Formats: sequence, structure tokens, C-alpha cells
Amino acid sequence: MAFGPAGPLRGTPLLPGDKSISHRALMIAAMARERSRIHGLCEGSDVHSTASALRAMGVRVERAGNAWEVDGVGSGCLLQPNRALDMGNSGTSTRLLMGLVASHPITAMFTGDESLCRRPMGRVTGPLSQIGADFAAAPGGRLPLTVRGLCPAVPAVHRLTIASAQVKSALLLAALNIPGVTRVIEPVPTRDHSERLLARFGAEIEVRPAEEGGREIKLAGEAELRPQQIKIPGDMSAAAFLIVAALIVPGSEIAIEGVGVNPMRYEVVNLISDMGGQIGLHNVREQDGEPVADLIVRHSSLRGIDVSPALIPAMIDEFPIFFIAAAFAEGVSRTSGLGELRVKESDRIAAMAEGLRAIGAKVEESEDGLEIEGSGGAPLAGGARIESRLDHRIAMSFAVAGLHCRAPVEIDDMRPVATSFPDFAETLKGLAE
Ligand code: S3P
Repeated sequence: MAFGPAGPLRGTPLLPGDKSISHRALMIAAMARERSRIHGLCEGSDVHSTASALRAMGVRVERAGNAWEVDGVGSGCLLQPNRALDMGNSGTSTRLLMGLVASHPITAMFTGDESLCRRPMGRVTGPLSQIGADFAAAPGGRLPLTVRGLCPAVPAVHRLTIASAQVKSALLLAALNIPGVTRVIEPVPTRDHSERLLARFGAEIEVRPAEEGGREIKLAGEAELRPQQIKIPGDMSAAAFLIVAALIVPGSEIAIEGVGVNPMRYEVVNLISDMGGQIGLHNVREQDGEPVADLIVRHSSLRGIDVSPALIPAMIDEFPIFFIAAAFAEGVSRTSGLGELRVKESDRIAAMAEGLRAIGAKVEESEDGLEIEGSGGAPLAGGARIESRLDHRIAMSFAVAGLHCRAPVEIDDMRPVATSFPDFAETLKGLAE
């Protein structure tokens, strides 16, 4: 599919529900007893992977009108799945569900697509081994991978060595069915959607700054969670693509309503505002335990910026689209400390460097970051074919870049976009009409 030069972008695009919160809402509702109702669930295929794995373990998850219903079975009551759990492209489904399975008396085999089968799982299987779960993985600790859960599993103190909301969440989900108190200490704060949702469903959870720095979470096990009705905010990580599109295309002005502005997801907006991006934040409110706001974004002259590694955890998924913003800014932008990007759905440092060069940007690649010299707001050449590498964020980033190139940018495969933002292409094209 090709994305070419577009006139000013105008309108109020609809966002998918937050993908991170959607996975967690399904899983935590499954651990409550009786029916929860979830509005605004992300309809991407990643979230469907979570739903179908839960179904395979005895949980009824169905769409009912505009909402999704989950008939929770209660913690400890997942059933033995009688087939392998195919997680498609979804790292979050895989890692979080491994946590749930680890403290149940069941065995489950996880598999996925080519991208997912390349991603490291040792970061979750290591800490989950401490509670007594057993794993048989493909070489390198990768999928296909079989988890044999232990029940009762052992409550532990987990001092995480990497900043990962997925690892933290896997341990908290496991802890729901472990007697006693589990403690998880993360080296720096990461997105806290699991903590917020667990509290909302009635878990006994305590979060405080850790003595050794970072954050400590204490969760009491054998939790009796109560079913809830919740509305999920719009996905900031999806909004980021539309925000950058409006910033780089001259004359644009768009409004995005109901976006989740959790501080651990919002850093991309702060950073791009520091680059000169005009992004207005309006009507900030609380919605079922998460902060939500409306954004108004106008075309802006951006300046290059040095990104502090301290910002990484709160904008880990936004680097591909930040690199696009940097490619149209005035001056140089520098990033470092981004080694984690090499083990996302694709090697995002390599994919972005190669794609940016192909559309005419000036880029230097290092082991853990990129240095980009921007065009000063002028269109780039474009006219290239970009490989999306089974990575939705690579596909969406270059689709956005194409809107401000002299010749269209062709994305070889837009299918990965359906993992998180199925209506992305129509939404973007709709803004340009
Ligand atoms: C996610 C956490 C992040 C992020 C991913 C979603 C989550 O991964 O990149 O897209 O929902 O917990 P890490 O925990 O590996 O940083």
C-alpha cells in the first residue's frame, strides 16, 4: 500500500482502545468471579490472541454489542488447554499469560509467528522459575515454549534487572494465585496499568518507592477479585502516529479525544512539545482509574533534540514514530540506551535506519541508538519500498512519513498494523480528504 504527499490533515480521528490495558483487562477479569463488561477494548489481533487463549483455558470472552463480556472463573480455576496457544505476533499476550499459567496446575504450550518466535522469553521464564514453574523452550529460550505451572506456587521477592512492564505484570498475574505476599521491585518505574486495574478489581496491592530506587509492588495472593464494568482509554501509542502526521504535514490541525495520558505513556508528547510541537492537552479527567484527555495538534516547525535515556521506559514504543518526527525537524536528534528496541517485533533500530535512509533522511546507526539530521521541515524524497518486517509500528511510521515526501512511500505489507490499529490506513487517509 502506498502513502503519498497529502494536503492538510483535518478532523477528529477515532482511536483504538489502549492495547496494553486491553490485554490486562481481559486477563484480570478472567481472574475475577462472574461477569465483567469492558468497553473500548482494542480490537487488534494481538488482543484477540489473548481472548482466544483465555477461551482455550475455560473462560467465556465474547463481544456483546459495543462491549466485551468476560465470565471470570476466579484465580486458580483456569483449565488445561487441549491445544497449543497461538499468540500470533503478540509479545504482551505471551509473557503475561505465561505468568497466569505459571501458578495454575496446568501445562500450556505457547507458539507464535516468525517475529514472536525470535523474541527472548528468558526475562519472564527466569523469574517465574523462582515460584516453581517449569519451562521447556526452543533454543535461546524462545517460542515454541511449554509452561508447566505449579499450584500452590511459592511467594517470592523479585528484584527485576530490566525495566519491563511485561515481566512485572507476568509476576503480578502469577501472584494472584500464590498464597502469601509477592513483592516485585522494578529498577525504574514502568507502565502501571496492571497495578491500577488490579486495585480496581479489588486486589490487595501496595505500590511505593523502593529503598534501593525504583518501585516496589506488594500483592496479596489468593485474591478474591470482584467483576467490574470498565471503559478503556484510547491508545496513546496509536495516537502518536496521528500526532506526528499532523505535526509534519503543513496546514494540519486535528483533535484526538479520549486518549490515555498515563504519565508512564505520555513522555512522547512532552518530548515532541520540547521540540516545538504544538500539542494542546484539554479536559484531563479520570476514567476508571486511568487519566484521559483530549488533544489538539497543529502543524509545527520541529527542532532536533537529544533524548535522555531516563525517558525510555515511558516512551519505549514511540521511538519509531519519534524518529520520523526527528527526520523532519531542524537540526540533529540523538538517542542512546535503546538496546531493547532490537528485540521488539523487529529490530527497530536497524529497520528505522534502513527505511529512513531509503526515503532520503540522513541517519547514523550505533549499537543502541540513532543520530538523525532532520530536513528542517522540507519534504523528504520518498519513492521507496519499505519492509514492515512483521512490525506494525514500522509500517505505521513509514506510512506517516509518506504524507510529507515528494514521492509516495510504499509499505510492502500493511497486515501487521491489524495487531494494534486495524483502521489505521483508513483513518489516516480520511484525515487527508
Ligand atoms: C508492554 C510493555 C512494553 C511495550 C509493549 C507493551 C506492556 O514491553 O514495549 O509494547 O503492555 O506491558 P517491555 O515490558 O518489554 O518493555
